[in-house]
Amino acid sequence: MKVNVDAGRCQGHTLCAMIAPDVFELDDVDGHATPVDPNVPADQERKVAEAVRSCPERAISTS
Ligand code: F3S
Repeated sequence: MKVNVDAGRCQGHTLCAMIAPDVFELDDVDGHATPVDPNVPADQERKVAEAVRSCPERAISTS
């Protein structure tokens, strides 16, 4: 699985980083999320799927 955060949609709600802190990191200044690594380890895939569902801005996508 690969994960992407659409920077134009992310509004810094931080839910993704609370659900999958090993996958998403938050910018110190604006709080926007980026993937630590776009290639998601297999043991993190369920958390990433939950983050996708939880993001209010629907900014997270996987492929
Ligand atoms: Fe951004 Fe959604 Fe995470 S708005 S900080 S990608 S929960």
